[in-house]
Amino acid sequence: MDRMLTAEQQALFEHELLAHIAGALRTTIDWTLRTQDASSRLPSLRFIAQSFVRHLDHILDLEERDGYMPGVDSRRHADLRQRILQLRRDHDYFRAELAASVERLESAASSDYLTIGEVCHAMLAVLDGINEHNQHELEIIELARERDQRDQLLGML
Ligand SMILES: [Fe+2]
Repeated sequence: MDRMLTAEQQALFEHELLAHIAGALRTTIDWTLRTQDASSRLPSLRFIAQSFVRHLDHILDLEERDGYMPGVDSRRHADLRQRILQLRRDHDYFRAELAASVERLESAASSDYLTIGEVCHAMLAVLDGINEHNQHELEIIELARERDQRDQLLGML
């Protein structure tokens, strides 16, 4: 139980940190989209985008390895299994989309504002997708927890 709480506290901290980096990424994107000369902004954008991707990767790995994914017992919550599989597929989608964005940013010339603009919009779409994904995750975690507590109260464990 203690270990569970520690894992939850760590997950909370990691998500808070990710939200801060996402805020910095949105600010940098906004700042980049306001100009057609991205030469002074591209290095910051690359740096923040890479930081975000690195930290997101860390969180996705934690969720898949130690987090709610193995934590939600698929035998007792068989009906949640499809939803968890979809969330797992979301992770792969976020990884692939962001890896492609970072790669495009790395190779873009600072004068190529069309590419830079496209990448900015693609990253904003992924950020929105992650918010939606996190809402679904929370719903599943709360649902599984409520059922576990109810079953425990009824002495069904
Ligand atoms: Fe997730």
